[in-house]
Amino acid sequence: MNEPVDAKKRTYSEEAHAINARDVSFSFDSVRMHYIPGEVLATHIVNVMHLVLPEGERAMAQALSEALPYIKDERLREEVQGFVGQETMHANSHEGARKHLQSIGLDAEGYVNKVAWLVDRILGDHGLTGRAKEEWLKERLGLFAGMEHFTAVLGEWLLNADILEEVGMHPTMLDLVRWHGAEEVEHRSVVYDAYMYLDGSYARRARTAVLATATLLPLFIISTAYLFQKDPSQDKGRNWPWQFVSATVRGVIPKFTVFFTEMPRYLNPKFHPSQLGSMDTALRYLAHSPAARASGHSPAPRAEGQ
Ligand SMILES: [Fe+2]
Ligand SMILES: [Fe+2]
Repeated sequence: MNEPVDAKKRTYSEEAHAINARDVSFSFDSVRMHYIPGEVLATHIVNVMHLVLPEGERAMAQALSEALPYIKDERLREEVQGFVGQETMHANSHEGARKHLQSIGLDAEGYVNKVAWLVDRILGDHGLTGRAKEEWLKERLGLFAGMEHFTAVLGEWLLNADILEEVGMHPTMLDLVRWHGAEEVEHRSVVYDAYMYLDGSYARRARTAVLATATLLPLFIISTAYLFQKDPSQDKGRNWPWQFVSATVRGVIPKFTVFFTEMPRYLNPKFHPSQLGSMDTALRYLAHSPAARASGHSPAPRAEGQ
């Protein structure tokens, strides 16, 4: 691969902490089907994370691993390695949640297998070599950088959505999605920086970002509809359009218009993911997250007066 156009495009002076996977674990035993009580549709919107994201995250981890041999910048290599570890841990944790939901009656295995097959067919390495391999790698990095924009925005929303506590979301599920959201904010720049290092073309960045949006929105809608329909519960509340509007108005789910409103920001030639949200909020959550603390990755809070 050619030498990067400008290896100094990104400096790490502002976000100098190292990114590392946290060895978290979750116990889902007490989680019920509607773990956001009374919010069936909102629960299934969150469930999309357990079903669809793990496959995408594994594909991302694979592409970033393939990029490592081309990255000579030690600091960026370190970030990419941390990213691969974090995404692999996200995928495994959400899979644990999915298996629990499957065990209590939400049969989504067939759908998950189809998604896995599709992701592998579309986003795998296709056994390419030489120039074709490098071009396909750059294309995937562009696409994943666009997707990571949305996961960082969603992560920021999860960290700030106090309403999830107010409506009584199960604490384990809440910690799972907030831990994940916080790490999405923490590593928001990594794929973008890897893409800029290996390619950096604005045309590809814009094209793949539009493609990422055009893929994610229908995927979310189709997956939510599938889960809502597969839910075996007798009482699924009022019809889904009513639940959707109600949950949106009350802020229990993010506004779906985010898919459109975020694109102009990402497409601004001066945009960099470090401009997104508060890193401090994410790191503070990770310092207190029950799962992250149990992993021994985060320090115990200091006692009063220390
Ligand atoms: Fe993730
Ligand atoms: Fe991510």
